[in-house]
Amino acid sequence: MTKSLPIKGTDYVEFYVGNAKQAAHFYQSAFGFQPVAYAGLETGLKDRTSYVLRQDKITFVLTAALTPDSPVAEHHRMHGDGVKVIALWVEDARKSYEETVSKGARSYMEPYTISDEHGEVVLSGIYTYGETVHIFVERENYNGPFLPGFVEWNPEYRPEDTGLLYVDHIVGNVGWGEMDQVAEFYRTIMGFDQLISFDDKDISTEYTALKSKVMANDNMRIKFPINEPAKGLKRSQIEEFLDFYIGPGPQHVAMATNDIIATIKQQRERGVDFLYVPESYYDTVFDRVGKIEEDLDILKKLKILIDRDEDGYLLQLFTKPVQDRPTFFFEIIQRNGARSFGKGNFKALFESIEHEQSLRGTL
Ligand code: FE2
Repeated sequence: MTKSLPIKGTDYVEFYVGNAKQAAHFYQSAFGFQPVAYAGLETGLKDRTSYVLRQDKITFVLTAALTPDSPVAEHHRMHGDGVKVIALWVEDARKSYEETVSKGARSYMEPYTISDEHGEVVLSGIYTYGETVHIFVERENYNGPFLPGFVEWNPEYRPEDTGLLYVDHIVGNVGWGEMDQVAEFYRTIMGFDQLISFDDKDISTEYTALKSKVMANDNMRIKFPINEPAKGLKRSQIEEFLDFYIGPGPQHVAMATNDIIATIKQQRERGVDFLYVPESYYDTVFDRVGKIEEDLDILKKLKILIDRDEDGYLLQLFTKPVQDRPTFFFEIIQRNGARSFGKGNFKALFESIEHEQSLRGTL
């Protein structure tokens, strides 16, 4: 087994969006992210602006282009709103870069040091699937709000958080026949191990199917399920993603909570749109998962999904896509021992997604 690249956790996730200012308001109002930092014209940037928001250990950066020739504009024109950067918190950003590039990773950004009055940070970056990148962040000698170049963003408007704690996993959608190759990238270049794999016999409905491999680093703080479409009767949700994102990209970020009932209740009240769960889901689910601590009536009322594996159970729910294109969405997850990803819910979920695809005319 190759040794895993030392990674302490997810440092931040950066979205390229059409309008960062308005997106920031959505993440504050709907999900309860707190304002942290800002960069833009006032801080010397010419081609882009960024808002940084945080909820416990989850940090999001929302970036939009200010000029038509910005690389952000080009990316956005092609892919629409979506995740550009999955930044990884490392001890040594130079070594992370050298090790991965020497094993064949494509360079995105050579290591460099940036500093301000709060200290210094070393950054470097490599490409992963599609145009998505990993930026390695070494921030041991830094105590500013986010990164050098950003100033504190301190508006009065601060809706309460909704109990989100950390990034549980980030799923990537890749093209036909590309899953193995991307899993190999994480295995040989990043030293990750494969946790689980599913194939189309596990994950299929009457119409759509997918294959999935879950890659994780050694301390399990980084979990990346990689999906590819499989042949079904109609166009699968993975194909729909690939068609609208124009290629591979991050499909969803799963955010953990310790109290999914409170989190989902808050988020529903604040306008987060969750995937429709058919009433019939609750006809059989309690037989399938057995005894759980939560009040079943409340789970049913809030339409929270339940699954069990050999280690325990989990509660989860998925939002609808959070931008105009039917691409990226979020998952909210509470783990009560379970270490898997909700395989038992896939079928119910896909039927729900297919229902929405048929409304969009993309099934
Ligand atoms: Fe997930």
